[in-house]
Amino acid sequence: MSSIAISDLRDRPDFAKAVADRVWRAFWKDKGHPLSLLTGLVQENLGPGPIPTALVAHEGDRFVGTVSIIASDEDTRPQYTPWVAALWVEPEDRRRGIGAALVERAAEFVFRSGAGRVYLLSGPHRRSFYERLGWSMLEVIDDGMSILTRDAPARQA
Ligand SMILES: CC(C)(COP(=O)(O)OP(=O)(O)OC[C@H]1O[C@@H](n2cnc3c(N)ncnc32)[C@H](O)[C@@H]1OP(=O)(O)O)[C@@H](O)C(=O)NCCC(=O)NCCS
Repeated sequence: MSSIAISDLRDRPDFAKAVADRVWRAFWKDKGHPLSLLTGLVQENLGPGPIPTALVAHEGDRFVGTVSIIASDEDTRPQYTPWVAALWVEPEDRRRGIGAALVERAAEFVFRSGAGRVYLLSGPHRRSFYERLGWSMLEVIDDGMSILTRDAPARQA
């Protein structure tokens, strides 16, 4: 993890293509969506922000992983916002704490931008990963997917 940096995609727009490709393959391709849809969505992360924002983990110019902060990841729960989503680490870089670091940085980004609570959607096999990182179960929705949440740390007086 030592030589891995985590940057805002606005500062490293050269990684936009890799982010679109990996997020498309992992979460969108099997649902029949074209890569061009993701390419367009990823471009939105280059706008003024803070939402949406994509973070990239990289070792110099080598892409290692990504996570996004988006307004909504679950159409049936518009009252919940913002969300951490689209977490991906390259297969050869896994189990070194990079996924955990990306989730942590995404939550910090949300809290720094002023939101007091953040949400994420997890499959059953990933729940314990997030719970170990301090996220709490909020509710189970369709297909066994769970909404987890995390609150901003209390401010020191
Ligand atoms: C989920 C994902 C992002 C995790 O990335 P990662 O970099 O491997 O994450 P971490 O290294 O922080 O943690 C992964 C596991 O490695 C363990 N680990 C972390 N550092 C370790 C180390 N130095 N040695 C051994 N194990 C370690 C963690 O405890 C964790 O264990 P768990 O799977 O039992 O919870 C990655 O597997 C991925 O991209 N998967 C495909 C996409 C996906 O499923 N995204 C999440 C959608 S909810």
